[in-house]
Amino acid sequence: MEKLVVTGPTQLKGEVEISGAKNAAVAILPATLLIDGVCTIENLPHISDIEISCEILEKLGAKITWNNKNSITIDTREIKTTKAPMDLTSKFRASYYIIGSMLGRKGEIEVGMPGGCKLGARPIDQHIKGFEALGANVTVEKGKINAKAKKLKGAPIYMDIVSVGATINVMLAAVLAKGTTTIDNAAKEPHIVDVANFLNTMGADIRGAGTDVIKINGVEKLHGDATYSVVPDQIEAGTFMLAAVATRGDITLKNCITKHLESITAKIIEVGGNVEDNIDSIRVWCNKRPNKAHIKTLPYPGFPTDLQPQMGVVLSLANGNSVINESIWESRFQYTDELNKMGAKITANGKTAFFEGVKKLSGAPVYCTDLRAGAALVIAGICAQGETDIYNLQHIDRGYEDIEGKFRKLGANIKRVTEE
Ligand code: EPZ
Repeated sequence: MEKLVVTGPTQLKGEVEISGAKNAAVAILPATLLIDGVCTIENLPHISDIEISCEILEKLGAKITWNNKNSITIDTREIKTTKAPMDLTSKFRASYYIIGSMLGRKGEIEVGMPGGCKLGARPIDQHIKGFEALGANVTVEKGKINAKAKKLKGAPIYMDIVSVGATINVMLAAVLAKGTTTIDNAAKEPHIVDVANFLNTMGADIRGAGTDVIKINGVEKLHGDATYSVVPDQIEAGTFMLAAVATRGDITLKNCITKHLESITAKIIEVGGNVEDNIDSIRVWCNKRPNKAHIKTLPYPGFPTDLQPQMGVVLSLANGNSVINESIWESRFQYTDELNKMGAKITANGKTAFFEGVKKLSGAPVYCTDLRAGAALVIAGICAQGETDIYNLQHIDRGYEDIEGKFRKLGANIKRVTEE
């Protein structure tokens, strides 16, 4: 079994290169199924969710050439089946984007229910509502989703809840539909804008992505014959920004879009950190104990739920008592049990957690419960006195490219070892 062995405390210092956004890339790859052609995608994060996405696309008939570890050329002219491999699609959440793109391309798809981090119920009713509004017939039985549509027809769709996945999935299905689709109460995350930009580069006609009303004018086909570079990862960037504050270090993040980081910057300044915004890079430093804060996670442009565990480490060490309200997921405080093993004083109750700031954490064996919880435990291990062994690394490897290499470059004493 693999584990990360982290010995702290270390104040992280130096530069880190931010990779392409996981939550954009895992949608852009299935979106290539809409293209009757060949395209190249650059700045892909080299993570297991991407590797599995490519395996699924190849099983559906796509031909993929890896130009390097962060770039592929993909030929989706031949799609030979409408049945996605269940063993692969159950490994992560974003496999459900195959539904929107295959409905648009082939008018039918059979795919297993998606997997992904255990954060609560994670229903897909808004996805199904959108597909049915476009004229598809969707059934869910025996753990499989079957979707069929003779011809998708554009329609007005109002999302009952702001949903990243449903917004992207309905956008995918609408691209080749006949007529115009409007998605009202749409999610506005940077990765949604990136998927829309990718599709428009390939010949789609999508307007308003990044606002709460997205308009998609259906087109005959997407041509491909283009290269697209995935947007820098807002959540990876926020992870390193919060690591700078938690470890009282000084980190410059290269290749990021600071506009996407405004809610994190605001909170870092509020707790006493410093931020220097240089448009495509950002410097974060903190040379004193952070102040307490009240965090409420919200859809973009609010404070991202995917940075809630990482902020939890900062608040565990803050001067005073803090509160986090998690408004998106029912069960995103599992990491607090692990931080409490390290000497944190956190009381989690449903969608609220109370943090009594402590002066230091101590190393301990801890277990990742989901992707972002894993990142938080790495930060906690770097802050803690002594050795922290971090297990269940498969969660981290789904979403962070070379996490130990990037932290080691910033001075962390961290290594990946195999334990018999
Ligand atoms: C995406 O998940 C991200 N995953 C998540 O990041 C992220 O936490 C989440 O958006 C919110 O930002 C990917 O992009 C692959 P939602 P998604 O649909 O699309 C409810 C990470 O760490 N809802 O925006 O599944 C849902 O229960 C991962 O990178 C419905 O009720 O999230 C939740 O309460 C973890 N019905 C809320 O909406 C639906 O049909 C937001 O979920 C869909 C969602």
